[in-house]
Amino acid sequence: EWTTATFIEEAVREVRARVGDKRVLLALSGGVDSSTLAFLLHRAIGDQLTCMFIDQGFMRKNEPERLVKLFKEQFAIPVVYVDASERFIARLQGVSDPEHKRKIIGDEFIQVFESESQRLGPFDYLAQGTLYPDIIESAGENIDPKTGERVAVKIKSHHNVGGLPENLRFKLIEPLRRLFKDEVRQVGRNLGVPDEIVQRQPFPGPGLAIRVLGELTRDKVEILREADFILRQEVNRSGRYNDYWQSFAVLLPVKSVGVMGDRRTYAYAVALRFVTSEDGMTADWARVPYDLLEQISNRIVNEVPGVNRVVYDITSKPPGTIEWE
Ligand code: XMP
Repeated sequence: EWTTATFIEEAVREVRARVGDKRVLLALSGGVDSSTLAFLLHRAIGDQLTCMFIDQGFMRKNEPERLVKLFKEQFAIPVVYVDASERFIARLQGVSDPEHKRKIIGDEFIQVFESESQRLGPFDYLAQGTLYPDIIESAGENIDPKTGERVAVKIKSHHNVGGLPENLRFKLIEPLRRLFKDEVRQVGRNLGVPDEIVQRQPFPGPGLAIRVLGELTRDKVEILREADFILRQEVNRSGRYNDYWQSFAVLLPVKSVGVMGDRRTYAYAVALRFVTSEDGMTADWARVPYDLLEQISNRIVNEVPGVNRVVYDITSKPPGTIEWE
């Protein structure tokens, strides 16, 4: 019979046997899979594990700091924080096509990953929070024909990343590969991963970069970060965070007229996106209580300079997508 306790015990034993005294690299994303993996590996091999967090500058307000602090201070798991935000936004100047934005972010991620793994290495293994559904999706794609072992061809925390170059094809450690998402959550809880991570809504690898529609500027990213922060605060306060598959804000590349006091304003519009879903493949727009929408709208318009209008997205998937890009 499968229990989280026996799973953890066996996974720890397996990882120790496989790794021996070698070193393992893990790219943390802040999500439940990579965080649970970090806790599991830390239990198994202690400081033979190096956790790295690459900040591309498109995370939510306070999240990178909070993650690093949580791991370091509360759990004594050190995390190497890599601030790469300047180079990502610089590379994205003049780019507005969504897929092109993703490609640039993915390529840049690989470059930072490569130089950092060389700086911190050498490493024998790369740990990834691959789950059972990920394996099925990528069946056969990453078996080394010589050894029959699975090798890293992609970085999971960022599913837009293309193939890894030859020199980065570490051997893979994937202790979660037989689990489904709800099982990972149970394992995470059992290992002491905090609820705020275990219950976290999915957040795309490219982050806020695909929620500022069209071309990015530092100002626009900052405006969205503030609007998103207010939305999250209000959703948390309402006690409804877990009712939604995802809930977030999108900055539209549209200005419209408003009035504030006795002044006319001409500023950006923000769209609110709340959906319910089982797996992200299909989704329904959520019937969010008017009070909550009102609270979020009032606060965004009053507290975020540069925004004077808030709209609500009532499109389901299909035919819409969850994200706007
Ligand atoms: P869509 O917008 O296609 O999103 O309905 C389905 C799910 O995938 C997430 N998503 C992404 N995740 N990189 C990611 O890591 C991406 O480029 C990306 N695009 C969409 C989205 O948040 C939703 O959960």
